Amino acid sequence: MQGPLFDSFAGRGLSRRGFLKYCATLASLLALPPSAGRAMAEALAAARRPSVIWLPFQECTGCTESITRSHTPTIEGMIFDMVSLDYQETLMAAAGHQAEQALAKAVEDNKGKFLLIVDGSVATGLEGAYSCIAGKTNLALLKELAPHAAAIVAMGSCASYGGIPKANPNPTGAVAVSDIVKDKPIVNIPGCPPIPVVMTAVLAHFLTFGRLPELDRLGRPKAFYGETIHDRCYRRPFYDQGKFAKTFDDEGARNGWCLFELGCKGPVTYNACAHVKWNDHTSWPVESGHGCLGCSEPDFWDAGSFYKALSMPANPLKTVVPAAAVGVAAGVAVTWYNRSHKAAARKAHETAGVADLEK
Ligand code: SF4
Ligand code: SF4
Ligand code: F3S
Repeated sequence: MQGPLFDSFAGRGLSRRGFLKYCATLASLLALPPSAGRAMAEALAAARRPSVIWLPFQECTGCTESITRSHTPTIEGMIFDMVSLDYQETLMAAAGHQAEQALAKAVEDNKGKFLLIVDGSVATGLEGAYSCIAGKTNLALLKELAPHAAAIVAMGSCASYGGIPKANPNPTGAVAVSDIVKDKPIVNIPGCPPIPVVMTAVLAHFLTFGRLPELDRLGRPKAFYGETIHDRCYRRPFYDQGKFAKTFDDEGARNGWCLFELGCKGPVTYNACAHVKWNDHTSWPVESGHGCLGCSEPDFWDAGSFYKALSMPANPLKTVVPAAAVGVAAGVAVTWYNRSHKAAARKAHETAGVADLEK
């Protein structure tokens, strides 16, 4: 197996076997058939490293930290071998005019071919004046570069939905990338920050097949956002048995019981934390003893109530199924979050027979 990318990996001590295993893992994370691992290996090995331009808008650098805080040779660490990262202010050595020249050259040399990554929301208030790079508003820069990109990756909840900068009262008029760009393929990778390997897998898919992976109705890769945290949570058996921690230091908490009553938003949050985990598969919020905040859902910050239980049955198997059995439509008030969360909650509970979450 030969090619620029494989040579780069080999130069970092990755064996052919390790490379194949890496590709098989990516294929499996993307829910592709086993044969796709081999196809991905061949495509990636031969791939010319595509140009990537990464624009930081109204962000906290958490998304960049998430991607870069990796330990080689993990999957996350290999992202920079798969692409030619031609512009990324936080990581690039160049600064000032040199950086701006690098950006202009990358766009000129790769028109219609580069991947545009954006982290942070887009300020629209005062014609975008709240957030500028080199005297140019984020809004203007996005409008200028988007038409030349092959596709756009909105990295993190800020770029995907507006995120924390959009939180009430949204003084900068923050919006999502998809609110501005309407005529390019956009993949949203929400999370505050998002899981690094999701980004790597999306890139690998793009390099292998020349297109973005299958997306859901919110523009997220289905393979990673197709299920709720609750669907895959290892504490789920306790939820089903009605065993809940009541405080963060009671016996239930020490026994690893469900964190629903301590405000866990796992039942209405779509993300892969429960099975992909963080930091080289080390842990994730719920495994660390804290409920999910719902950070990958739209408007999670305004929804708040991080330590208040969702207004839905703590134990649907005990409270909802009997109601459904007697033909009574269970009325469950979901007061937390907006319509998208209600829809998410509906899906999470439809197997338990909840007929109408809107009541
Ligand atoms: Fe920071 Fe979260 Fe926004 Fe990423 S999504 S830039 S981590 S606030
Ligand atoms: Fe896990 Fe939270 Fe669901 Fe409990 S409510 S099972 S802690 S995701
Ligand atoms: Fe965010 Fe919940 Fe995962 S808070 S990091 S989506 S467990």
